[in-house]
Amino acid sequence: MSPAAARKKAGAAQGAIPLLEAVPFACAAYADDGVLVSANRRFNDEFAALPEHRRRDTLLALLRDGALDDEAEPAEVRAPHSGRWYALHWGQAEHDGRPLALLTAIDISERIEALDSHKSQQEKLLFTSRMMSVGEMAATLAHEINQPLAAIVNYLNGSLRLVDQAGGPAQVERALQAARTQAEHAAAVISRVREFVRAREPRRDAQDMHAMAATVLELLRLEAERQQLRIDVALSDALPEVYADRVMVEQVLLNLVKNAIEAMRGTPVAKRELRVEGRVNLDDEVEIRVCDRGTGLSSAEQDQLFSPFFTTKNDGLGIGLAICRSIIEYHKGRLFFEPREGGGSVFGFTLPRYEQGR
Ligand SMILES: Nc1ncnc2c1ncn2[C@@H]1O[C@H](COP(=O)(O)OP(=O)(O)O)[C@@H](O)[C@H]1O
Ligand SMILES: [Mg+2]
Repeated sequence: MSPAAARKKAGAAQGAIPLLEAVPFACAAYADDGVLVSANRRFNDEFAALPEHRRRDTLLALLRDGALDDEAEPAEVRAPHSGRWYALHWGQAEHDGRPLALLTAIDISERIEALDSHKSQQEKLLFTSRMMSVGEMAATLAHEINQPLAAIVNYLNGSLRLVDQAGGPAQVERALQAARTQAEHAAAVISRVREFVRAREPRRDAQDMHAMAATVLELLRLEAERQQLRIDVALSDALPEVYADRVMVEQVLLNLVKNAIEAMRGTPVAKRELRVEGRVNLDDEVEIRVCDRGTGLSSAEQDQLFSPFFTTKNDGLGIGLAICRSIIEYHKGRLFFEPREGGGSVFGFTLPRYEQGR
């Protein structure tokens, strides 16, 4: 049967209410028992394809499934067959001495879509500004520190030459050499920071977590030995490749493992335990967890954890986690903290699998 013929039949059977045609929105009247009595042309065009429209309760049950907010008045719902959004209003009326419930469905798709795009714009902006502030801050800091460091190295070199020419005391010469080594080390660290910050276009690709973890652990091997702790790597063998920028993710892992090592400074040697775990989580993402037996975090600390400059360390900068979060969010993943069972912390992140992220 053609829609027009169906309309005619329905109208004839139920006693059409011509007045409904005057309503400029989709409009339908339901009797006391919930059965459709009449609908205007617009309603039929937009809802007649749903068999549920013939009863008030079945139509509502169907539409409420796609409701934005159950409690909202008027209900804003998404029609599953057309994907369009409607604001539903109910009113009471009477016709031929019978009470009727009058439904109007106003198409609000344009407004909802505009809202959606506004929201994602906002999120993008927030992300960019976070990334920028952390990056700019690190760049400024690196620049500021670089100048005095270069000067210090020059002065030390000059002093060493003088001591050498004058045949000065050997202890002074050794002290100057040690100072120069430290200053050069600091300069190398700073230049790595600048390298990292220098708005390098991220390059995402298929990456193997095992390889990235190996690189990071190699960098931290000495530090771990010094603290007499072993780092256990428990990545599942079948861990799929992630879609990620290798250097960036290594940076994240490095930060988290370093924090874990630092958190265990006060932990008795026998209890020091650092595990890097990796698995596919229930959302089918790759999830990496860095688990320590350190100090853990108070709830006040947890609240500030990711704000730039938050640190509880004398020598801390407090930008490690803020940078980690920007990087992970850039990869459409999540950085999270949870207390570790039995004491300590778990810092983890998720990354999309290669096939999904692409
Ligand atoms: N594994 C951890 N255990 C306990 N506290 C941690 C851990 N990781 C980070 N934190 C807390 O979060 C703060 C911020 O960390 P981060 O941003 O890396 O900066 P920083 O290491 O320079 O202090 C740390 O000072 C510490 O208080
Ligand atoms: Mg840190």
